[in-house]
This record gives sequence, structure tokens and C-alpha cells, in this order.
Amino acid sequence: MEVVIKRDYGLMSKAAAQLVVDVLNTKPNAVLGMATGSTPLGLYQELVRLHQAGQVDFSRVTTFNLDEYVGLSANHPQSYHYFMHEQWYERRIAECGGIDLQILGIGSDGHIAFNEPGSSLSSRTRLKTLSKQTIDDNARFFERREDVPVYAITMGVGTILDARKLVLVASGKTKAKAIAQAVEGPVTSMVTASALQLHRDASVIVDEQAAAGLTMRDYYEFIYAAKPAAPKA
Ligand code: F6R
Repeated sequence: MEVVIKRDYGLMSKAAAQLVVDVLNTKPNAVLGMATGSTPLGLYQELVRLHQAGQVDFSRVTTFNLDEYVGLSANHPQSYHYFMHEQWYERRIAECGGIDLQILGIGSDGHIAFNEPGSSLSSRTRLKTLSKQTIDDNARFFERREDVPVYAITMGVGTILDARKLVLVASGKTKAKAIAQAVEGPVTSMVTASALQLHRDASVIVDEQAAAGLTMRDYYEFIYAAKPAAPKA
């Protein structure tokens, strides 16, 4: 796992955007997995800027969303429709040749996508019940806490690990504990982001505040600084 620490949110976003651009330069028809939430907004804004400057072209790109809230009425979670939808989603990803780059955020409870604590590390796209912590955290996007959906359809941890490359972005002190557990703690379904340790090409890009709990910081910075001169594998 590569750990990149940037001074602030803007630089974190630029570094993550550069990673997307590098993938598209190598493969203009890449399949991208996109996270929502507040953290990747700067990264997406930077991609828009680069697109407007003519430095990146998305015309041949396919995207898949990482997860989606489930409405509680017509789309009842137990319905056959939802079951079919989950099956269909995994099949579509496979038909598109798999995800080349998956963008991820991290929840303060250590989740990736909506794989809450206890999610199997080999799980596939499915319905999940959100944790109380996630409902509290995401209440800021809704008028009232009661409006936050309780269910979501989410790629599984196993689905995410199938992507060829992963980039996780995290910013702010509320993410420091989750980042420390994910990067330096044991691999555990209690912190599903720790599954990134099992992936052969995962980058974690954080700002100073989100990096605050990392004990090996000096080493990560040393590796990153030495990267341009590293012999090509
Ligand atoms: C969003 C997602 C979630 C968020 C996480 C952090 O598609 O899958 O895992 O990435 O909850 O959200 P923010 O960035 O809003 O703190």
C-alpha cells in the first residue's frame, strides 16, 4: 500500500486527480469506479478543470458508482427487483472488463463504500443496513437525521478488491483514527478499509489532519520522495 500525505485538502485532491489522469493516459477507455460523499469533491473538481484545460478526455470512459442509498417505499429492500439489480450490477462490471481504478472515501467507522463493520471481506454487491455512526455522519447531507436512508446498495469489499487499482482519499481529523486503523492496524472486517492491505496496487492519499494517527509517517514520506528515482519493476 502506498501512503501519500499532502499538506491540505487541495493538494490531496490534486494528487488523487493526477492518479486518475495517469490511468486515462495509459488507457483512454478505462472503467472508473466513483465514490460519492464530500471527500472526493475536490478531486472531481480538479478533473473538471483538467478536462476544461484539454488535459484529460473522458469521452471513452465508463463509470460505476460505488454505492447508492435505497429509498424505502417503491424500492423495498426485500423486493425481487433489488435482488436482480445487485446481480445485474456485478455482471455489468464484468462485461465492461472490470474496474481499472476505484476511487474510495473512508467512513469514520472505517467503512469503504457502505461496507460497515462486520462486512465480509469477500462480500459482493448487496444491500447493507447503515451503522448508527454512518447515519449520524451523513445526516449533514439531509434536512433531518430521520431522512437519512437506513439501507444502501453497495459494492462489496470483494468487488472493490477486484479493481485493478484503488485510491482512497481522506481529509480532516475525524478520519485520523480510521486511517490509522486501516493502514497500520490488523486486516479485519471491523474496519473494512483495512482490506486495502490485501490489494497489490492501493494508494491512500490523505491530508495532514487525516494522517495524524499514523506512526510510520516518516517512512511513507521517505518512500514517496524516493519514488521518482526508483528503478522500474
Ligand atoms: C460514498 C461512500 C462512502 C464515503 C464515506 C466517507 O460513495 O462509499 O464510503 O466515501 O462515507 O464520506 P465523506 O467523504 O462524505 O466523509
